[in-house]
Amino acid sequence: MLMKPDDSPAHAEFDLQADALGARFPRGFAWGVATSAYQIEGAAQEDGRGDSIWDEFCRRPGAIKDGSSGELACDHYHRIAEDLGLIASLGVNAYRFSVAWPRVQPLGAGRWNDRGFEFYDRLIDGLLERGIAPFLTLYHWDLPQALQVGGGWVNRDTVDRFVDYAVEVARRFGDRAASIATHNEPWVVAILGHEAGTFAPGVKSRRSAMQVAHHLLLSHGLALRAMRARGCAAPLGIVLNQSPIHPVTDSAADIARARLDDGLTIRWYMDPLLRGCYPEDVLEFLGEDAPRVESGDMEAIRQPMDFLGINYYTRNLSGTGAPLERVESARELTDMGWEVFPGGLPELLLRLQADYPLPPIYVTENGAAYQDRLVDGRVADRQRTRYLCAHVAALADALESGVDVRGYFVWSLLDNFEWADGYTRRFGLVYVDYATQRRVPKDSARWYQSLCLRARAARGDRSSDTAGHGNAA
Ligand code: FCB
Repeated sequence: MLMKPDDSPAHAEFDLQADALGARFPRGFAWGVATSAYQIEGAAQEDGRGDSIWDEFCRRPGAIKDGSSGELACDHYHRIAEDLGLIASLGVNAYRFSVAWPRVQPLGAGRWNDRGFEFYDRLIDGLLERGIAPFLTLYHWDLPQALQVGGGWVNRDTVDRFVDYAVEVARRFGDRAASIATHNEPWVVAILGHEAGTFAPGVKSRRSAMQVAHHLLLSHGLALRAMRARGCAAPLGIVLNQSPIHPVTDSAADIARARLDDGLTIRWYMDPLLRGCYPEDVLEFLGEDAPRVESGDMEAIRQPMDFLGINYYTRNLSGTGAPLERVESARELTDMGWEVFPGGLPELLLRLQADYPLPPIYVTENGAAYQDRLVDGRVADRQRTRYLCAHVAALADALESGVDVRGYFVWSLLDNFEWADGYTRRFGLVYVDYATQRRVPKDSARWYQSLCLRARAARGDRSSDTAGHGNAA
């Protein structure tokens, strides 16, 4: 089932680029779309699923901008057949999703919930039948609430619970998953969840946040070790959100602040994962708030990784004073207020490559929110197409400069529950009318489809080539 191509003149320019762009990527490149469990599944009370910290957080008055929750979301849990067809219609050969821990282990310890696992079985098999490689993430922020009651990620025991969960998912799906990522964006869990408190579980303590960051990294390393020890064949890694940090002026104070922010967001994660230590300047800045690290932890964190996922949306400006506003007016922003800055992607990847012994890279998320309108059955989201086109071109630049990039995933397949922003932000290639759950591919979906199909055709990719991302290779 293919969508009718968009033949409007407005799209001709991007279409031409799709041809040329597609040819810049190698055979077997993963072209995908990404989602996460809590943002799309709904069915929060069904088939034995336990509460997650996001269910709990959404009940707090004022926590979510529009007072909503992921209770129904895109009702993906019940519409999986339709959504599999939708994914296939995009011409992608890869799909990134997350497993909801409380769906498969309601209390985060002890009993497994087979009905939960059956849902992911259907999803994975449905993808494979369509020649689409399943990229699985274990933790996209939905900790079982029962573990939060015991302290959540601040409590070191949660690390062991996560390892058990990882081993069980790998045992069931490791033979079919094209890859398994432990965590999605540990910075967000630690900082937005435990320092800013704007995301679940809504804690506001820097000390807790840094302990959480350490426990997330430790749980990643121990899970990799444990999954491998049990013979898991899927490539294993982690997904980090990373943005180049630019000083807002060239004053010494702004440059110093930017360096510290670089340490807090990039090096705090990359250094332990790839070098086995935390950055000294950040430890010094944290002082008393630095995490408690036990002997053996740093070796455990630095496990060989088969891939690294990078989520890229924008650059960040850092500074000590007010001039941020001055720069603001000159910048093109998405509906999140994030600057459109495609050049930051190759800049970031080349810098990481220069500083670290990188495994193969996947851009596991990239996309933009805009105020989309459904008019006469169509969403003319030209800005999104322009955003995607510019970022794919920038990624091709990185590839041609020698970065080993293996895949690219658009965030997101569907408009969905955008965390504290609720349903007020639309990131999908496919529009969701929440009143009816009707899905309408936006113009950007048609463009992405033409890119994926042309890129794959240019390299003679057959759908069976996508298996090359998994252990069938
Ligand atoms: C990333 C998250 C993803 C989505 C996008 C917009 O930080 O991983 O779930 O919210 O941002």
